[in-house]
Amino acid sequence: MTTILSTWKEPGEVAIRAAWDKRQSDGGLIDTLEAGLAAAELDPNLIMIGLGSLPNSEGDLELDASIMRGSDLMCGAVCAVRNIVPVISVARKVMEDTPHVMLAGDQARRYAIEKGFEPRQTLTAQVINRWEEWCESPERIKVYEHTHSDTVTMLGLTNGKMAAASSTSGLPFKQPGRVGDSPIFGAGIYADDEIGAAGATGNGEELWKAVASFRAVEFMRQGLPPQQACEAVVQQMLRRQAKAQELPCVVFAMNRDGEVGAATTKDTFDLWICRDGDMQMQSFSA
Ligand code: GLY
Repeated sequence: MTTILSTWKEPGEVAIRAAWDKRQSDGGLIDTLEAGLAAAELDPNLIMIGLGSLPNSEGDLELDASIMRGSDLMCGAVCAVRNIVPVISVARKVMEDTPHVMLAGDQARRYAIEKGFEPRQTLTAQVINRWEEWCESPERIKVYEHTHSDTVTMLGLTNGKMAAASSTSGLPFKQPGRVGDSPIFGAGIYADDEIGAAGATGNGEELWKAVASFRAVEFMRQGLPPQQACEAVVQQMLRRQAKAQELPCVVFAMNRDGEVGAATTKDTFDLWICRDGDMQMQSFSA
């Protein structure tokens, strides 16, 4: 049995279908999650991941991605990378071809180019228009409407092996150089074959403060099922972090048995679940 999870209705569907296609063509778990996120990154209609995403306050798109293998805790990430897609594939190269965990900014971009990635224009006319509108708006503080489309984070389980991966353009119109939870191990993703895997999506500052993914895995290590582990993380965030009450912060998890859970500090969250090709979307409310 292979179980794959992917966040949010629209980008999650693109990602989970591509991931399952890869799995069916004998892709390993890392190939499967990479293929899912790469497909979502390369879809210019998805505004929170990869090509065509909303840029930072200066109109530059900066992307973050991460991937982690639960068998040996190997992981790789990139952050604040400009003009390269899919960055999930660069994160994988960091994991497999370097002794490091993360490369950042221009140096990550240079590394990607050395590895054969072609620099390209990642902004579309549509997002340039939205950035210009934002620049002209009186307050310039409306960060973004919650569009039910956010960071895509994926978890996978097959034959007792687990993996986690995430890709995002981060907060729309963010300060240049800002990095959120998604490429940070323990915050945006975590996977440990001994216990399970967890991922996050939503406000990266709050999720990082909570080290939300690692915390969910550790609650499972203490014996909680995934649903209760995620609820415990969210309860703790709501109790300790005032802003988590105002901003949507989601944590979701899967244990070694394939049981799944999720919880959010606010609003509703959609999670795609694929079990050997049977795909369903489940909604979770605060
Ligand atoms: N969760 C994505 C971010 O805040 O960057």
